[in-house]
Amino acid sequence: MIEADLAVVGISELATPEGRSARLGSDLGRLRTIGEAAVACRGGRVVFVGTERDFRREVAVARGGRTLDARGATVLPGFVDAHTHLPFAGWRESEFNERLQGATYSQIAARGGGILSTVAATRAASLDDLALLTRARLDAMLLLGTTLAEAKSGYGLSTEAEIKQLEAVRLGAAGHPVAVVPTFLGAHTVPKERREDRTRYVDEVVSEMLPEISRRKLAVYADAFVDAHAFTSAEARRVLEAAVAAGLGVRLHADQLADDGSALLAAELHAASADHLEHVSDAGIEALARVGTAAVLLPASTFFLMSQTKPPARRLIDAGVPVVIATDFNPGTCPTEAMGAVLELACLSLSLSIDEAIAAATLNAAYALGRAAETGSIEVGKRADFVIHAVPNRYHLVYRFGVRRVRTVVAGGKVVVEEGQLSPRA
Ligand code: NIG
Ligand code: FE
Repeated sequence: MIEADLAVVGISELATPEGRSARLGSDLGRLRTIGEAAVACRGGRVVFVGTERDFRREVAVARGGRTLDARGATVLPGFVDAHTHLPFAGWRESEFNERLQGATYSQIAARGGGILSTVAATRAASLDDLALLTRARLDAMLLLGTTLAEAKSGYGLSTEAEIKQLEAVRLGAAGHPVAVVPTFLGAHTVPKERREDRTRYVDEVVSEMLPEISRRKLAVYADAFVDAHAFTSAEARRVLEAAVAAGLGVRLHADQLADDGSALLAAELHAASADHLEHVSDAGIEALARVGTAAVLLPASTFFLMSQTKPPARRLIDAGVPVVIATDFNPGTCPTEAMGAVLELACLSLSLSIDEAIAAATLNAAYALGRAAETGSIEVGKRADFVIHAVPNRYHLVYRFGVRRVRTVVAGGKVVVEEGQLSPRA
């Protein structure tokens, strides 16, 4: 008999991608689905996934262990949010209101609003306040079914403030059930005080921020934003090559507002991901496929910017690029932590199938964060990170859009959300 300390039985439908790497092309939407299913874990790992019949024959729940009943419910892997700008202070609802009256995101950025308004608020916040904000947002993510998230800096834009943001991620995430992968985004935009001397700012990113952040092990990845209002490809290349030399992985905000060749740059640097990609070229798509750089699509951010140009999701999938969907959680272009909404928009605006969207939001997203061997699917040996959704099958996740449905979250084999509420924990 397999011994377990936690089991979930009576599951109407369990659906998961399988494997320890990204699902590509027509395999993206090939999930393992089991009706009348059960899953069991021990010591934080999955030890059984299968039918309830087999569970009854093969698994024994240890004395003191728990068995949850998921009758009428669907179990999926925890969502993996592979692109967030988590540790910021201050919202930007009045800019949003201006955009609703016709102002564009670029116009607001050009007059010193946008990212720079969040930089001012984030610089003014204390480390403790930022850590509390980070933790509250991780709670919100967990309640929405996310068990692993990336978190970028990029609203500090000085050595001190970038380090403060990354320290806030470390403090806010310490002991939290959502596992966090930190990313240094010092090359998000040029701060106001360096607008006349941008080379000096890039020098600071390369020779002050990166060495200190790598020495303190505050980030796993470095990211840069290539855009007319941010950095040129040449500047991003300098930053990311220095990041690789400092031992960090790299990712890139690429081809978001125009085709600036940045997907090609991401592939050339063997980046873990190229993100946004609304305007990616055919050559860019081909290059990403060749090296296995993940395409992280952010349909909630495209939607929230009311952009007519959507990333070419189908062409990316057909070309064999590892396709991921994520929130882009940030105060300007995606003020929501809801991966459920991202799933809905991936289907309804990018035309992914529901099964493709599930794989893109779980296993492929874990791949983009270098964690696909650990999590992202419900398989024996992997971390027990899964969610019980109060819907009878996976199609309802998108079909019944906009409704609350996360009932229970298991992260690292522990029940951390129950009946839609955070469980009291140590
Ligand atoms: O990913 N593209 C650049 N950065 C963010 C937006 C940040 C902001 O507006 O504060 C993004 O969309
Ligand atoms: Fe972003």
